[in-house]
Amino acid sequence: MNKHEFISILTFLIFMITHILSPQTINSPDGRLSLTFSMTDYGEPVYELTFNKMQIINKSKLGIFIKDQANLAEGFTLVNHETSSYDGSWQPVWGEVKTIRNNYNELLVSLRRRDNRELRIRFRLFNDGLGFRYEFPQQDGLKYFTVSDELTEFNLTADHKAFWIPGDYDSNEYFYTTTKLSEVDASYGATINEISTKSIIGKNFVQTPLMMKTSDNLYINIHEAGLINYPVMQIEINQKTFSLRSHLVPDVLGNKAYLQTPCHTPYRTILVSDNAPAILESKTILNLNDPSQIENTSWIKPIKYIGIWWELHVGVSNWNYSDINNVKLDLTDWKNLTPTGKHGATTERTKFYIDFAAEHGFDAVLVEGWNIGWEDWFGQWKENVFDFITPYPDFDLLELQKYAESKNVKLIMHHETSASATNYERRMDEAFRFMKNFGYDAVKTGYVGRIIPRGEYHDGQWMINHYIHAARKSAGYQIMINSHESCRPTGLHRTFPNWLSSEAARGNEFNAWSRGNPPEHETILPFTRLMGGPMDYTPGIFEIKMNYYDPSKKFQVHTTLTKQLALYVTMYSPLQMAADLPENYSKYLDAFRFIKDVPVDWDETKVLEAEPGDYVTIVRKAKNNDSWFLGAITDENKRTSEISCDFLTTDKWYTATVYSDGENAHWEKNPISYQINKYLVNSKTRLKLSLVESGGTAISFLIASPEEIKTLDKY
Ligand code: NOJ
Ligand code: CA
Repeated sequence: MNKHEFISILTFLIFMITHILSPQTINSPDGRLSLTFSMTDYGEPVYELTFNKMQIINKSKLGIFIKDQANLAEGFTLVNHETSSYDGSWQPVWGEVKTIRNNYNELLVSLRRRDNRELRIRFRLFNDGLGFRYEFPQQDGLKYFTVSDELTEFNLTADHKAFWIPGDYDSNEYFYTTTKLSEVDASYGATINEISTKSIIGKNFVQTPLMMKTSDNLYINIHEAGLINYPVMQIEINQKTFSLRSHLVPDVLGNKAYLQTPCHTPYRTILVSDNAPAILESKTILNLNDPSQIENTSWIKPIKYIGIWWELHVGVSNWNYSDINNVKLDLTDWKNLTPTGKHGATTERTKFYIDFAAEHGFDAVLVEGWNIGWEDWFGQWKENVFDFITPYPDFDLLELQKYAESKNVKLIMHHETSASATNYERRMDEAFRFMKNFGYDAVKTGYVGRIIPRGEYHDGQWMINHYIHAARKSAGYQIMINSHESCRPTGLHRTFPNWLSSEAARGNEFNAWSRGNPPEHETILPFTRLMGGPMDYTPGIFEIKMNYYDPSKKFQVHTTLTKQLALYVTMYSPLQMAADLPENYSKYLDAFRFIKDVPVDWDETKVLEAEPGDYVTIVRKAKNNDSWFLGAITDENKRTSEISCDFLTTDKWYTATVYSDGENAHWEKNPISYQINKYLVNSKTRLKLSLVESGGTAISFLIASPEEIKTLDKY
């Protein structure tokens, strides 16, 4: 080797070493977000994130702790890094928009320890946020392992305002508290919510999606995407440094996850924007999920439904057939039950709902309390309560199958498992076959109570795998699923589009039998719970005060009637219930018209204005159809605003039917008062919205008929 060769090889080596060791930076496609990965002197991987050069996440450690082995969190050398870019689009089976663009820059770093164990971290930087996950390649030194902890830090720069619910391994059914991070008190948050699941995990723990706002008016949202075979990530807050840290839901032994290489964790997501509507329009969480695993999706259809449900929650009828005090049900002796006379799910009552659904164009009727077990289901922690195939004597499946078919209405099955997941798994095939035999193609599942197997939590790895198992199995039978008391969603409806919706939050039902959900609740949910996927919130309550049913009841829905209409647009779900009783809708058929007209599947969505905790206004275009629908809601404060109709197709007249609060409406004093006005509008129209305290406006924009163009007033 001559001197020149030596120098050029040396220069190349120096270049390689500095290149590999130097921090790695990637930018979002629009250049506004910037992610830098580097290593500390101790070989710890760290990342940081800026938005328009403003620091969003200070240097934050990454790593996985492994039981009985050295941690995958330090002592690493960066052995390789690769950058790449992707720009493509895909069409969801159903959704808020017809086409979703997936556009990111990626950095994949490979780390190796002295003991040769390897960890990779994949970062994807989108225009509106970052996703990153840990990947464990196949390797000799790491085959089966137990995750004892995850050290993912999100070191924030200041004491941001946060919209939070308390950390809890079993439940998300809380309303939100808004405080600075330093003022989060999750134990208080749990107390005011009257929930005691026995697994609330301390003062400074909260759940994700965690929505925050900085004093510079930036919006930051932390969550996760693609939660499979791993526990839910909750968040621990250091209230002095504003450092957040992942807290994984354990199992009974305190272990977090059992994994086998090759494998990876879900993506951790950080969305950032200076514009609140952009957070709601983000598709990053969905994009970080795998494409559909179901090849033929033609049988998957959005559903608008009614059901024998709210009447159970308000006490008009009961789930159980016989007296709850006298029976200890065994699946063999149910024939001895004596009826109470208040059973809701009777053949006759179901036919009445089917008639109402057929008359008003609903796809389906849910019936709860149709099967034996409800005498013995609640709070008992028993393994065998429901068999999912034995109806009560007054529920005639065959007769109802014929009747529903004749009216072109579907019945929706209900599988309350009373949290006995083992029992459900054993009986699932039989239960799904039974459904298909009787013409059902959708099921609502439920997991009320403490999980069986004992020691598991609703949000632990074991149950996460159970929910996925249920989604996969039901897909095998071409059954759509709506899960209640399951973990909050993480965009998995891209992968399993038959998993139409879930509850996993404090739904409208709480208003029927507890202090309920405060007026701001539905303005926060889109920024939190709904970030991961649709919710079966069950809007549409018209008889708002519960003293309508029982004069002694003080409970009420914290809403006006037209706010209930607006929720069909502001709370996205491909599965929407008109939750109130048919008898109540029959009294307000003019307002009910909006629920009949509003679609459950969309080509376009525009968030016109939104502020977490205050208000949300959204317009959506119906699937394959030139009509638009608007929903606007406000918190406990009344509100006016002006919106431009420039989303409408230019040069076309539309009939806008505006459902708004009555002049003296008020969620508490006068909730049912509403007015309905019709105008001719076009894309140049500017509409004034006026919402009372916890009020709402709902508008349908349908192409105007020649007759309407002649007779209706222009706005
Ligand atoms: C709780 C669910 O959220 C609710 O919708 C259902 O009616 C009850 N469990 C009974 O399964
Ligand atoms: Ca619930």
